[in-house]
Amino acid sequence: MSLKQIAIDTLAKNDRGGFTIPTAGLYPYQWNWDSAFVALGIATYDIDRAWSEITTLIEGQWPDGMIPSIIFRSDDPDYFPGPARWGKTPGAIPSTGVSQPPVLATVVRQITSGPQGPARRAEVFDAIFAWHKWFHDARTVDGIVATVHPWETGRDNCPEWNIGLDKMEVAPELPPYTRMDNKHVNPAFRPSQEQYDKYLTIVHFGNSIGWDQRRLTDEGPFLMADPNIHFVLLRADKDLLAMATEIGKPAAVCEQIRAWIAKGEAASDYLWNDELGAFTARDIRTGEFSKGFSNCSALCFYADTGTPDQRRRTADNLRRIAGKVEFMLPSWDPDAPEFEAQRYWCGPLWPQMNYMTALGLAEQGEHDLGQIVRNGLCDAIEKSGFWECFNPLTGEGCVGANFSWTAAVWLSWQHETEQSDVA
Ligand code: DGY
Repeated sequence: MSLKQIAIDTLAKNDRGGFTIPTAGLYPYQWNWDSAFVALGIATYDIDRAWSEITTLIEGQWPDGMIPSIIFRSDDPDYFPGPARWGKTPGAIPSTGVSQPPVLATVVRQITSGPQGPARRAEVFDAIFAWHKWFHDARTVDGIVATVHPWETGRDNCPEWNIGLDKMEVAPELPPYTRMDNKHVNPAFRPSQEQYDKYLTIVHFGNSIGWDQRRLTDEGPFLMADPNIHFVLLRADKDLLAMATEIGKPAAVCEQIRAWIAKGEAASDYLWNDELGAFTARDIRTGEFSKGFSNCSALCFYADTGTPDQRRRTADNLRRIAGKVEFMLPSWDPDAPEFEAQRYWCGPLWPQMNYMTALGLAEQGEHDLGQIVRNGLCDAIEKSGFWECFNPLTGEGCVGANFSWTAAVWLSWQHETEQSDVA
């Protein structure tokens, strides 16, 4: 069977009726940025089904505009922490109390180029605008978009977060719990127990303040700036502005988005770690930078931001790292402490990150580097199949098998190749 067909079958098996789970067992709910990437893949053969991925995600939106990281339409004993542990949340559907990198606007713009495009963009515009507004209001500290939980960044146990986690205490009153992730996959691929205790401590704090998002940002136990959320949001703001103009939104709406973009452009410098020549995470309360090039450092190209010198040094880092691994792009710098080739975000390459990085590099004229990043993922998939992530030294699959976004990115690139062959 062709990889294309296996990818389509993978998405069909993970379909739960209008939305797609990342993979059975380990992640049995609808995840935010997973659904956006899934829509990208399904749009190559069924735009109506792709669209329902977007609209079901928006159904989970909170009254304050936040779209949460996980929407709990059921209570599945296979997953922890499920709806009971997150407590009462204000959306129409139970959910987590944190968000995820907002790729939605970019995906919507990309998949709605057909005849129904303007109507579809108009249908979801206000919801996405409200979500971006939430990031710029409830999650911003002194002009910098912050994050309150490693789960919100989507890059759970990346060593960048240890700066913030090391400063935290585990809540003494933390209720006991049993992890489920380690029952589904090899614990050596997953975050440590100490990290889990701290993840749960943040959840406990959020729950204790009734998920007041301004208080969670200002008073929560963890407050860092994430290049992933920063660059993804900046790019998404630019796509949102393009859609606002195309569908004729009022001037005040366009002005608001322009102001967010200007704020985002200025904030890129805050994440520039001159010592490493890279955009890295930073603890907002102390200003401390993380010490490694991650797989979101080069998203400056995707967001079309950064000075020529910052971009040149970022590209130099990519070339250095390409000389160290067989399969680009590792999630953590192989030259930095705490690199582990198989442990989740401490080293493995991640399909959605390769997708965004390769796209940005190609758009900004870095074609050779873009191709290296694209080939890294394609070679790993050809060798091992549709895994959640891959060991960058060997190409072996890690963590979840039969993974939706891996299948979706493959389909999106396959479609692009087929289209360019026709042209
Ligand atoms: C998990 O459960 O590992 C997820 O990454 C949280 O979003």
